[in-house]
Order: sequence, then structure tokens, then C-alpha cells
Amino acid sequence: MPPPKSVLVNTTINGRAMSLAVPPNRTLLEVLRYDLDLIGTKQGCDKGDCGACSVQIDGVPMLSCLTLATKIEGRRVDTVENLSKVGSHPLEDAMDRWNAAQCGFCTPGILMVAENLIAEKNRPVTREEAAEALAGNLCRCTGYTKILDAVVDASVVMTESEEVGTTDAAAETTDASEVMTRPEGDAPTEGAE
Ligand code: FES
Ligand code: FES
Repeated sequence: MPPPKSVLVNTTINGRAMSLAVPPNRTLLEVLRYDLDLIGTKQGCDKGDCGACSVQIDGVPMLSCLTLATKIEGRRVDTVENLSKVGSHPLEDAMDRWNAAQCGFCTPGILMVAENLIAEKNRPVTREEAAEALAGNLCRCTGYTKILDAVVDASVVMTESEEVGTTDAAAETTDASEVMTRPEGDAPTEGAE
């Protein structure tokens, strides 16, 4: 059977406008990691259970492993690489302060969900709010206590410094447009971190 025909998708990823030729069955996670080399977004369970692949689409956290790349037509995607354009983001600083990452595999997904929570609330969040927002983000290492401490702490810092909504601010599009094609049937690179 011939490989499925690629579809042209116009989108903005991390503030950069681009046109991507993607097979209709390719996920956003595969496009990010294996076509665009944005390997900050992690491939965990690949079936919607762990939250490691969380990105923001139009500012809303979504699981990129369950999102077909064709669905980002005309939409804005932000990954952890776009969390801060300059230096580290207050959420990253707080994760560091609270030793909230061990292996760090879950961290990018947690950052993208927590950033949206704080941006939506636009005030310091409670532990309960952080726990509810992060219920779909599994961490095998930390026991979650320090992650929640870090998110609450970051929400205070971000609210005071008005750094809420950093990914929105960074999402200016450019005129640059590129057509990217990937050989169909090309196997994903295993083991990329
Ligand atoms: S890799 Fe997407 S939820 Fe686990
Ligand atoms: S720090 Fe290892 S999975 Fe969360």
C-alpha cells in the first residue's frame, strides 16, 4: 500500500510561522521531536497517560502524543523551549530552588501545564489548584510535594513580577515561512532525549 499523502499544515511554533508537510497520521509529538528537533517535549507513554508530552496550543495545555499534526493548522503551538526567551523562567527557577526535579523527564510537561495555570489565575495559586492542574502529569521520582511547592512559589514570584503569560508574549509571528518535508516512513530516532 502506498504511504499516505502528506498534508500541508500552516502553523506557528514557538513564535515562528511555518508550513509543514506531514502525513495525516503523524502526531504533533513526532513532528516536534523528530522533524523539528524540539526534544524538550518528552515521549513517555505515547498514549495519553503520563503528561510528559504536554505543550500549549493557543495557550491551552494539550497532549501532543494524542494530537494529530494536521490539527494545528492555523494554530499556535508553544513548547518548553519557548518558555523563556531570555535566561530561565521563574517556574524553572522555582523547580530548581525546591529540588523539584530528579531525572527531569516529567519537568517539561509540568512546566507547560503550570505556566497555563498561573497565567489563567493571574494570582498566586494554592497547592490544591496546582495539584488539580497537574493531576495528569506523572512523576516517578519526586512524590509531587516539591513540585507543588515550586509551582506555588513560582506563582507568587510571577504575579509580583508580572511575568505571567510569558509564552503568549513570546509568540510573535514572523514573516519567515518554511516548507519542511520528511521522508515518509522514516523511523523516529529512538533514545533522543
Ligand atoms: S507521552 Fe503523551 S501522555 Fe504520555
Ligand atoms: S523527576 Fe523523574 S519523572 Fe519526575
